[in-house]
Formats: sequence, C-alpha cells, structure tokens
Amino acid sequence: MNKAQKQLNKESGRISSMFNGIAPHYDKLNHILSLNVDKYWRGVMVKFLKQEYNGGGTPRVLDLACGTGDSSIALCKKGMNVTGADIAQKMLDIAIAKNDKINSKYSPLPDYILASAEDLPFEDSKFDATTISFGIRNFNNRPLCLKEIYRVIKPGGVLAILEFAKPKNAVIRFIYNLYFNNILPFIGRVVSKDKEAYKYLSDSVEAFPKYNAFCSEIKEAGFKDVKYKKLTFGICVLYTGKKQE
Ligand SMILES: C[S@@+](CC[C@H](N)C(=O)[O-])C[C@H]1O[C@@H](n2cnc3c(N)ncnc32)[C@H](O)[C@@H]1O
Repeated sequence: MNKAQKQLNKESGRISSMFNGIAPHYDKLNHILSLNVDKYWRGVMVKFLKQEYNGGGTPRVLDLACGTGDSSIALCKKGMNVTGADIAQKMLDIAIAKNDKINSKYSPLPDYILASAEDLPFEDSKFDATTISFGIRNFNNRPLCLKEIYRVIKPGGVLAILEFAKPKNAVIRFIYNLYFNNILPFIGRVVSKDKEAYKYLSDSVEAFPKYNAFCSEIKEAGFKDVKYKKLTFGICVLYTGKKQE
C-alpha cells in the first residue's frame, strides 16, 4: 500500500467513525433538521428512477452511502431490487433492523453490505442504476468513486445523486447560512453529543463543488446526459446522468 492509499484509508476511517458515532441519533436529527423535507427530496429521486424504468421489470439499484436505509426503503417500495452499501456498520445495523418493519408485500427487501464507494465488491455492469443521497460530499476521492460507480452500472443505466448545495439567491442564502452555520450545529451537538459532526455537515457542503462543476466531474467519469435540478430554492440538488450504451 502506497502513502496516498494509507492516507485515504485513514480518512475513510475518520468518516466511518463519525457516522458510527452519530448513528443512533441520525434519523431523528435528519428529520428534525430538514423539517422533514428530506422525505420530499428522496421522493423526487425515486420518482425520477421510476419514470426511467417504467414498465421495465424490477430494476437492480445500488443505493450507495445508504446510511440508515431511508432512500433504499423508498426505492424498494416503488418495486426496485435494492442493495445498500455503506462504510459505517452502525448506520447499516439501523437500516437492517428497519427491514422487520417493512410490509411483506414489498419484496425483495433491500439487502445491505459494508463496502466503500472507492472499491465496490461487485462485477462490472451489475446494476441498472446507482443512487446516492447526501453521501457523495463525504467521499474522499470523488473521481475514483465515480469511476467505480460507472463500472458497476449497466450500459445505458442511470446515476441519480441527491446532495446539498448553497443557494444562490441572497435572501435565501442569508437564511441558509444562519441555519446551517449556527442553528443546525447547535441542535446537532445537543442531541448527538458530538461536537464536530454537525459542524462537519455545514463545512462539507461549503467545500462541495458548485452545480456545474460537479456535473463536469460526473461527465469526466464517462457519464452522458448529465443534468441537475434544484429543489427547495437550490438547497438540495438532484444530479442525474447515464452510462454510455
Ligand atoms: C449523510 S449520510 C447519508 C445517509 C443516507 N444516504 C441518507 O440519505 O440518509 C452519509 C453516509 O455516507 C457514508 N459514506 C461516507 N463515505 C463513504 C464511502 N466512501 N463509501 C460508502 N459510504 C460512505 C457514511 O458512512 C454515511 O452513512
């Protein structure tokens, strides 16, 4: 293992420890801090995939950085065969426990695997689609991960990524900064007792590339028809693309 790989492993270890630490509070905080709007954002992503595969059997979907499984479950409930993958076992444990509460009419239930986006344990072209909700800004090496994702999607298959962004409108941006830089880290710290995790959330959104810059990264990995759609004043964005036929 070279020096760069060791550094990457160290970084991944830090990220997985942070998510393992906040796992017990993650769902509650997610819904409080997003004022439940996260459900709407996930719904938009699922609807997009549903339209792509309308009438096309049971698409196999990799829900990468699946965390506690909310997007995996939403996809499963729309008739998709979902594999969730994440580097934080405690987040996955919560996702796995949720399978007991899903109505048995939804079949197959999502299955979950501990794996990193940097090195996916799947053969080439295994999935019809890959989704990532609020996960990609945590990846250490986005170009490497996007190439791995491209590899495991079938030719013509779809990528759909939900991620936070800083809104452009000055008024919305003012409210957003107030909320993300002050209120959100405060509530996050009180509920999760983790001083850094929710400060990290606003820092990582700040560091994430702007809309067009991120579309260019997706294209560089090989995807075509790359587009983005702003949701809720541009606080959240749905990025989509397709693997070449
Ligand atoms: C903010 S959570 C999002 C979880 C879930 N997708 C959701 O919508 O609630 C980010 C997740 O990304 C995972 N993650 C970070 N880096 C990863 C990587 N390299 N490969 C896979 N998962 C990763 C974390 O462990 C964490 O569960």
